[in-house]
Amino acid sequence: MATHKLLLLPGDGIGPEVAAEVEKLVAWFTRSGIAAFETERDLVGGAAYDAHGVAISEDAMKNAKAADAVLFGAVGGPKWADVPYEHRPEAGLLRLRKDLGLFANLRPAICYGALADASSLKRELVEDLDILIVRELTGGVYFGEPKEIVTLEDGQKRAVDTQLYTTGEIERIARVAFDLARKRSNKVSSAEKHNVMKSGVLWKQVVTAVHGAEFSDVALEHVLADNCAMQLVRNPRQYDVIVCDNLFGDILSDVAAMLTGSLGMLPSASLGAEDPATGKRKALYEPVHGSAPDIAGQSRANPLAMIGSFAMSLRYSFGLIEAADMLEGAITDALANGARTGDIAPAGTNSLSTTEMGDAILRELEKRAG
Ligand code: NAD
Ligand code: IPM
Ligand code: MN
Repeated sequence: MATHKLLLLPGDGIGPEVAAEVEKLVAWFTRSGIAAFETERDLVGGAAYDAHGVAISEDAMKNAKAADAVLFGAVGGPKWADVPYEHRPEAGLLRLRKDLGLFANLRPAICYGALADASSLKRELVEDLDILIVRELTGGVYFGEPKEIVTLEDGQKRAVDTQLYTTGEIERIARVAFDLARKRSNKVSSAEKHNVMKSGVLWKQVVTAVHGAEFSDVALEHVLADNCAMQLVRNPRQYDVIVCDNLFGDILSDVAAMLTGSLGMLPSASLGAEDPATGKRKALYEPVHGSAPDIAGQSRANPLAMIGSFAMSLRYSFGLIEAADMLEGAITDALANGARTGDIAPAGTNSLSTTEMGDAILRELEKRAG
């Protein structure tokens, strides 16, 4: 059996707490003979800054490039509010995404039946919701140059961020979205703002062209990104796959998270291009949530977003489809059996700690393994 090399980057705040629960599951899969993993650990974010004075060290970058998959916790927090901008914890994550070429970020938002009442929307709007946000992750306003604050002659300051997309960047993310839609409900909604932004005009043109040339069997609609945000809280089940740029994807996925009950439920996979020689791709698996400083250190975090991200690694990096189904099934079963961390528990009821939720998933896995 091939041994898969995982690099675990727990990060800051609740990152290490949710990462510890994934480590238990990684060990279980290896112990039970279903898959073999070898795990290394390294620092990222504020933890790396405290140790090395940078948000990710060159050594950690080397380890990330050498790994078969990176499992990422979360970074950031008030402790690092005043560090130089280029060393802020979030810069570690952005460098990983950019230098590993992880242009496709898949953010599935699934509302488990057992959690329909935890959503901030009514049960009848979100029950069985299953949408996938495909977020472009290495371009747009996150990385466009110039990106600076300059002082003007009159003493004012001017801040510039640059929204920038090339045809090639839009084509490749559109292909990912159409490909995935074919395996789902065969519909892509492309969100941009062509009414205000040149990058939106190009985005719409390129998505339309890729659709016409390669994916005309898939239904395509264009939606203005602000309308998309509204539609997500009006009638989210109209969507199957939503494809959008880096910034709109960041915002729309936090909106989608609350439809599922909690930001603590949303996993994600950040994928690079497939190497034609090996068929492999670089990949980093990261929950959509952040370091949650308000609950860090209290074992209150929901580990399911991170556990779901590990399940995505089984599916997308290792082709361990049965193991991925098993782990996702264990999440479904644990929720159906009433396992709830505080963020998804009805007010006034008892809830599980982070560790107890990890244990509940482990028990369901053991049941499924027989
Ligand atoms: P956040 O996602 O950390 O928290 C937002 C809210 O959601 C908080 O009330 C938090 O308690 C709750 N929450 C988040 N994850 C949860 C979980 N697993 N279980 C239960 N509740 C959860 O966003 P924020 O407060 O805006 O940002 C805090 C820090 O995290 C910032 O420094 C930000 O830059 C960083 N951040 C990092 C990542 C990442 O590392 N991938 C993502 C988003 C934000
Ligand atoms: C996310 C986060 C990151 C982003 C930050 C921490 C850089 O909000 O992954 O959603 O904006 O992409
Ligand atoms: Mn975000």
